[in-house]
Amino acid sequence: MKTPPKTFAVKSFGCQMNVYDGERMAELMAGEGMAQVDAADADLVVLNTCHIREKATEKVFSDIGRMRKDRRGRGAQAPMIAIAGCVAQAEGEEIVRRAKVDVVVGPQAYHNLPRLIADAAAGTASVDTDMPVASKFGALPARRKVGPTAFLTVQEGCDKFCTYCVVPYTRGAEVSRPFAAIVDEAKALVDAGAREITLLGQNVNAWTDGTKGLHDLIRMLDRIPGLARIRYTTSHPNDMAQGLIDAHRDVESLMPFLHLPVQAGSDRVLKAMNRSHTRDSYLRLLDRIRAARPDIALSGDFIVGFPGETEAEFAETLSLVDAVGYAQAFSFKYSPRPGTPAADLGGQIPEEVMAERLQRLQTALGRDQHAFNQASVGRSCDILIERRGKLQGQWLGKSPWLQSVLLSGDHAIGDLVTVELTQAGPNSVIAVPKMAVAA
Ligand code: 5AD
Ligand code: SF4
Repeated sequence: MKTPPKTFAVKSFGCQMNVYDGERMAELMAGEGMAQVDAADADLVVLNTCHIREKATEKVFSDIGRMRKDRRGRGAQAPMIAIAGCVAQAEGEEIVRRAKVDVVVGPQAYHNLPRLIADAAAGTASVDTDMPVASKFGALPARRKVGPTAFLTVQEGCDKFCTYCVVPYTRGAEVSRPFAAIVDEAKALVDAGAREITLLGQNVNAWTDGTKGLHDLIRMLDRIPGLARIRYTTSHPNDMAQGLIDAHRDVESLMPFLHLPVQAGSDRVLKAMNRSHTRDSYLRLLDRIRAARPDIALSGDFIVGFPGETEAEFAETLSLVDAVGYAQAFSFKYSPRPGTPAADLGGQIPEEVMAERLQRLQTALGRDQHAFNQASVGRSCDILIERRGKLQGQWLGKSPWLQSVLLSGDHAIGDLVTVELTQAGPNSVIAVPKMAVAA
């Protein structure tokens, strides 16, 4: 029997959905009367884990190892360890055996955390990796205070089964939350201080409720007073409905930014990845999106070194990047994940070859990001201030195109400041407030 924890910390790794889940877990435990503190002082530490690539998973076990070492020194004060997120889902009981943690809870079961913590305090390690039919969301407390930009999960899971990806196994099948529940949560977030909401889903543009699609939801949220900006991520090219493209033309609060992963530029590789789109269908889709919203900033995800990828096929990824001109992107070395079809394919690419390809790709993507930033110099736009910058009197915010923007002046977090973008770096842009320009 241990003393039930009075304080807790949550550490989230991986994607934005994990950040969202981490916030909801924190709200849940705060609702149980526990206080949120730094990890070093907490009676309970929740590691909200990522399984997407091998490195992310390894990090979990090295973190647990470090915490277990710390806890030897703390004796009776040793913190309870809970593993949440996608590693919890994938490894389940195995983590309790391998790492002797107290609680293991999957991404669809974390509303049960208070019960699991109580069981663990009573002396039994407790594991819950169920994917219940009833959604966890109904069992979670209302949103509390949030910053100017907030995440809102509207859809979870994936039915696409790309051959490299664990998400269909760790997050389960595609499930959409109901329209009314999302609108209520969006209003609560705005009441709690949010000025921008990013709608989240592993396939967010597959969101649906009856006959409604994501664009209907966006048009509804656009009417919430006080909500200045709407974003959504991550989208799949095949779910990019015309209604959503039209929303980019019509809805002013829908920001001109789209994260639309393509992964590779060769049709043979795309087929082996089971991507169900081609290079050409992707490029034609971008043409339609740009016709609706000419200034849209595009972002993507790329994998280099998928099994069997030849130099010529990799060159097709580079030429696709040249053709698109991404404003930003994420790129990764292929990581074989246990249980996925691609892990068993022949032709696994040596590490040095992947590293070299990744470097060439990142050079090209970095060049394009810098070029995008340079092309934005001279534009006027609003910046949503998110935090203070490193220098005295400096603020950091985001442009409509999701660029990090630095500006000075008398502002506050959550302000929308009209600026002119004046100077571009590779990773950020400097802006001057319009009032200051006029003065
Ligand atoms: N190896 C490398 N990158 C991967 N991703 C997903 N699975 C893997 C894997 N096994 C990348 C994809 C995806 C992003 C979230 O992570 O690019 O879009
Ligand atoms: Fe990691 Fe993907 Fe799970 Fe997010 S959904 S935590 S990126 S494995």
